[in-house]
Amino acid sequence: MTAPALALSSPAAAPTRPRTSRPRRILMCRPEFFEVSYAINPWMNPDRPVDTDLATTQWERLRALYTEAGHTVELIDPVPGLPDMVYAANGATVIDGKVLGARFRNPERAAEGPAYLDWFRDRGFTETRDPRHVNEGAGDFLATDSWILAGHGFRSSPESHREAQEFFGRPVLGLELTDPRYYHLDTALAVLDGDEIMYNPAAFSPAARALLDRTFPDALLATPEDAAVFGLNAFSDGRDVYLPEPAHHLAARLRARGFRPRPVDLSELLKGGGSIKCCTLELRP
Ligand code: ARG
Repeated sequence: MTAPALALSSPAAAPTRPRTSRPRRILMCRPEFFEVSYAINPWMNPDRPVDTDLATTQWERLRALYTEAGHTVELIDPVPGLPDMVYAANGATVIDGKVLGARFRNPERAAEGPAYLDWFRDRGFTETRDPRHVNEGAGDFLATDSWILAGHGFRSSPESHREAQEFFGRPVLGLELTDPRYYHLDTALAVLDGDEIMYNPAAFSPAARALLDRTFPDALLATPEDAAVFGLNAFSDGRDVYLPEPAHHLAARLRARGFRPRPVDLSELLKGGGSIKCCTLELRP
């Protein structure tokens, strides 16, 4: 465990230990065919118009911020008829260079799984796995230094947690999500650095909350207000935390912990029920 024994419990007195950004390799998918033509989460309303050009401009800004910060962004070609493919986090889970393919719960997204897996195989990733059980990639699997945190309740199946544990050879902590607005783990919890996380307790079952509290006593606890603006759907490089622009309160608390909040406006992509983290698939070496 790398967590310092310093008194992080009292936020006012929390020492802001120096944070370092580690360059990341990220896969993204341009929202060229993005639209909301079906509803598979409470944020989606097919009757509400979507501006695909604006979605693309906002997405390009996120991509530019990543590259300017020294991260490597790779692109997968968007496929017509797969409007949710922009949410690259769901395309696979990549840990220790190994790739567990995704198997979507909803038929609307089913074809994304093989499309992403082909990308990895074409790029020379040799340790890949066709998933046996329903899992929605890094939307529900988040790696800390010591754990793979795994969501279930809406999309990924508990069986997929076991599959991930065996495939990656890392311990998986299964966490039940109970609020339909926070249907993927990465809408309710974000890894900040090492074994440091932030999460919205209200999104989890009592048992999952107890597990999180016991395992991550120093976690940053987000408020329902932070969560409602999708603030937990953030991507951290260890120092810079890219998060939805309206999450001001959460940004201030991250700053108090020594992180550097980088607000990004992805309002158009939120109409599909996704934001920064959903559009970001980290390829963990
Ligand atoms: N419309 C997509 C769905 O419901 C959004 C996916 C968001 N991705 C994420 N990693 N949370 O599946």
